[in-house]
Amino acid sequence: MSQIVTVPTQPYEGQAPGTSGLRKKVKVFAQPNYAENFIQSVFDVASPEPGAVLVIGGDGRFHNRTVIQQAIRMAAANGYGKVLVGQGGILSTPAASNVIRKYQASGGLILSASHNPGGPDEDFGIKYNIANGGPAPESVTGAILARTQEIDLWLTVEADDIDLDTLGDVQVGAMTVSVIDPVADYADLMESLFDFGAIRAAVAEGFTMRFDAMSAVTGPYATEILENRLGFAKGTVINGTPLEDFGGHHPDPNLIHAKALYDLMMGEGAPDLGAASDGDGDRNLIIGRGRFITPSDSLAMLAANIECAPAYKGRLAGIARSMPTSAAADRVAEALGVPCFETPTGWKFFGNLLDAGMATICGEESAGTGSDHVREKDGLWAVLLWLNILAVRKVSADALALEHWARFGRNYYARHDYEGIEKAGADALMAGLKDQLGTLPGQSFGPLTVAVADSFSYTDPVDGSVSANQGIRVLFEGGSRVVFRLSGTGTQGATLRVYLENYTGPQGDLDAETGDMLAPQIAAAEAIAGIAQHTGRTAPDVIT
Ligand code: G6P
Ligand code: ZN
Repeated sequence: MSQIVTVPTQPYEGQAPGTSGLRKKVKVFAQPNYAENFIQSVFDVASPEPGAVLVIGGDGRFHNRTVIQQAIRMAAANGYGKVLVGQGGILSTPAASNVIRKYQASGGLILSASHNPGGPDEDFGIKYNIANGGPAPESVTGAILARTQEIDLWLTVEADDIDLDTLGDVQVGAMTVSVIDPVADYADLMESLFDFGAIRAAVAEGFTMRFDAMSAVTGPYATEILENRLGFAKGTVINGTPLEDFGGHHPDPNLIHAKALYDLMMGEGAPDLGAASDGDGDRNLIIGRGRFITPSDSLAMLAANIECAPAYKGRLAGIARSMPTSAAADRVAEALGVPCFETPTGWKFFGNLLDAGMATICGEESAGTGSDHVREKDGLWAVLLWLNILAVRKVSADALALEHWARFGRNYYARHDYEGIEKAGADALMAGLKDQLGTLPGQSFGPLTVAVADSFSYTDPVDGSVSANQGIRVLFEGGSRVVFRLSGTGTQGATLRVYLENYTGPQGDLDAETGDMLAPQIAAAEAIAGIAQHTGRTAPDVIT
């Protein structure tokens, strides 16, 4: 049996786990004791029962294997009885959530910086998920932060690195490490949820797609599910091998970083569906032939058609969306007679609603969609639900979108990001907005009149916890709005996000250019917030 070794250490500043765990540059994580301090703080807070099971896996980015080996030794020293680790150190975030749940683990470490670039000079991250498979709630992340500020030692065992590439069990100290197939459990789960038969039949009749795995974690999952199990042609999955630096690309499935896919889908001879997922496999991009589907619309359209998928038939309890996500889903919920919950940004806020059976499907404007099958958003799940619906309904994505808007109206939507701005200016902008909350209602900006202005605060209906200051909402008469928020995930300076929404009813122009339709909201946002004055920018860096 290996000896437990106690390593003295000192706290590092700034180990606060943000919206999705601790995210820093690789060079920061590679400092002596840096990752170890954080992992020990997680274990101190988790205080596992003797013999508890821990899941470890990551998106395969640079530094993944190093931290996995460290974490395995530390888990052995901290009393875990078993670690389940994905082969090659790979587990997509939703697959990790599934493994935690399926094997009743006490929690899991997910090593990822999601859609941020990877490589020696890029980003890394560590996130702790709890026994329900979801990201740790604020009570837990707060305790982890407090622990990082007073930590004075971490525990490890003297043991060699394990062979992460060979399936099977090995001993590390008194603990067993099982190297598991990262794909099989997840692929089986997907097959249990969706009508694979209907999708296979559609493929046999000529339905085609392109899935861009962005050289990130979903490659092996998509190849197994789409090509091997559903029969899509070889080559349907592109960039399907996970690379440590994602091939030098930015693994964020949006219209900028997945531009080649977008161009393909808008061009001659496009396949029926185009889709992509991000670094760790929890985000999704959906593009029909000639029609980009915004994440907000995707949530609404999936919810409206969810009866097509066997696992969801007759059991849609509710829909949940983050506050900045458009209100398109609210109209579906109303029509279906189920509640629609509006939560702060961050998938973790859906956890209680899903656990309590109050919400079945959830989504965020930031390209996240998922359901109660795991406790993370799930990129491939969203793609498969789209495939399931299109296969059963025998319509194109474009036709489905037009039909949806004709029934519910359309929430034209865009997000304008101002990245890497000075924090002082960003704070002043938000403070200025707060000062105006009392006086905005009744004021007009061009054709828009403010109905309500507030700072969004959420009271969790399950545990009563309150999360205040979650962004400024300016709601106009008629269902349009502008939302202002500072990003919780940026690693440099501050990022201002301005969310713009124009609601056009079923009788209005449902197939116009989004930019044109949002012109009044864009002008109102500038007039209300003074974006140029506070940020020094006259245009956003990114529009999604
Ligand atoms: C991560 C979380 C999402 C969240 C997003 C918001 O991706 O997993 O749940 O919506 O961050 O990021 P932001 O930069 O807007 O705080
Ligand atoms: Zn992600």
